[in-house]
Amino acid sequence: MELSKRVLSMQHSPIRRFNVFAFEAEKKGKRVYHLNIGQPDVETPPCFMEAIRNFDKKVIAYSESGGETVLQDAIINYFKGYDMDFERKNILITNGGSEALNMIFVSLLNPGDEVLIAEPFYTNYHTFVTQSAGKVVPLTTKAEEGYDFAKSDLIEAAITPKTKAICCISPGNPTGRVLSLEDMKLIGDIAKKHDLWIIADEVYREFAYDNRDATSFGMFPEYADRVVIVDSVSKRFSACGARVGCVVSKNQELMDAIMKLAQGRLCCPTLDQIGAAALYNLDKSYYDEVKAEYEGRRDVVYEELMKIPGVVCQKPGGAFYMTAKLPVESVEDFLIFLLKEFDDKGETVMFAPAEGFYGTPGLGKDEMRIAYVLNKEDMRRGVELIRLGLERYNAR
Ligand SMILES: Cc1ncc(COP(=O)(O)O)c(C=O)c1O
Repeated sequence: MELSKRVLSMQHSPIRRFNVFAFEAEKKGKRVYHLNIGQPDVETPPCFMEAIRNFDKKVIAYSESGGETVLQDAIINYFKGYDMDFERKNILITNGGSEALNMIFVSLLNPGDEVLIAEPFYTNYHTFVTQSAGKVVPLTTKAEEGYDFAKSDLIEAAITPKTKAICCISPGNPTGRVLSLEDMKLIGDIAKKHDLWIIADEVYREFAYDNRDATSFGMFPEYADRVVIVDSVSKRFSACGARVGCVVSKNQELMDAIMKLAQGRLCCPTLDQIGAAALYNLDKSYYDEVKAEYEGRRDVVYEELMKIPGVVCQKPGGAFYMTAKLPVESVEDFLIFLLKEFDDKGETVMFAPAEGFYGTPGLGKDEMRIAYVLNKEDMRRGVELIRLGLERYNAR
C-alpha cells in the first residue's frame, strides 16, 4: 500500500514539530516560554460567548453552505467601515482562513501552475498549494531589507507562462512586513499586466503599527475582478478555536466555483458563526486597544533582541511576529539545545526555526520566528532567555 506522492512531498509544521522536546522539558519541571505559535493570550471579546448563550433555536441545524446570513451581513458591515462595498454573494464563510486558502487554490490551480509568494512565508502555504498540485515559486526577501517584496524586478523575474497568482500576506507572517497602498498598487499593476490572480491574505489587517492604517486589496476597484481576500476571526478577535474565516471576492465565477467546494463540505459550525457575527459587529475602538497591546509587545521584543550581539532584525510594522537572524549556524540545533540542555533558574524558551518558512532549500537556517503572543513581562523574559542561551551555546 502506498500514500500519494503529493502528501509525501509535504512537511510537518515547523511551528509544532519541536513540541515533543518542549513537553519533555516541561515534564522535567522546566518552565518553557512558548514563543513559537501564533496563539494569542488576549481575551476573546465576551460578546462571542454571549451571542452563543442567547442562541434560542431547539436544533443546531446545518447552516447555508456559503455561511449564516447574519455573519455575512456583519462582515459586509465591517468592510463598509473601511469604505469597501461587498454583497452577500461576494462573501463565503469558511472553516478559518485555512479552509479559505485551500478552497481558493483548489479552484484556481491546474497541476503545475505556479503561485508567487514572498519567502519566508506562512508555512502552511506549502501544504495548501501542494494539495492543489500547484507549485510555490518563492520571491526571496532578506532580513537586512526588512523582508521587502514589493519590487517590480523581483516579481517580474519570477513570472513564467505557468504563473497563475501572486499571494500577498500583509501584515505578514512570519516577517511582520506591511504593504502600503503604494506597494499594493505596484503589485496590482504587475498582476494586471500578466493577468494574474491576487490572493490577499489579510487575516492580520488591523495589526499595522507606527500609525499605519489598515489596508486591503479590496480598496482598489481596478483590481476587483482578480482580487480574492482571505479573512478570519482567529487573530483579530483572538478566537483561533472558533474556526471561522471567509473568502471575499467580486469575481463571481470564482465565488461560484468555491461554492461547489463549500457545498461538498456542507457548512461551517453554526454556533461559531453566530458568535463570529457578534465579533465582526464590534466597535472599531476594540482594534485600537488590541493593536496598542501588540505594538507595546513588539517594542519590548525588539528592544531585547537588539541587546543580543550579532542579531539581524529590522523592526517589523505589523502582525505579531518577528523574524531575526541569530549568530548561530543552525537555529534548529540551538532550539534543541535550549529545550534539552539549557535553563536559567528552571526556565527556558521556544520559538519557531525559520527554515520551514522558506521555499528555497537551504535558506533560513540561521533565522528564527518569534510570535509575541504573551504579555510584555513574559516576552521580555523569553527574549532574555534566548540571549542567555546563545551565550552558553556559543561558549561550548
Ligand atoms: C498568514 C496566515 N494566514 C492564514 C492563517 C490561518 O488561520 P485560521 O485558519 O486560524 O484563520 C494563519 C494562521 O496562523 C496565518 O498566519
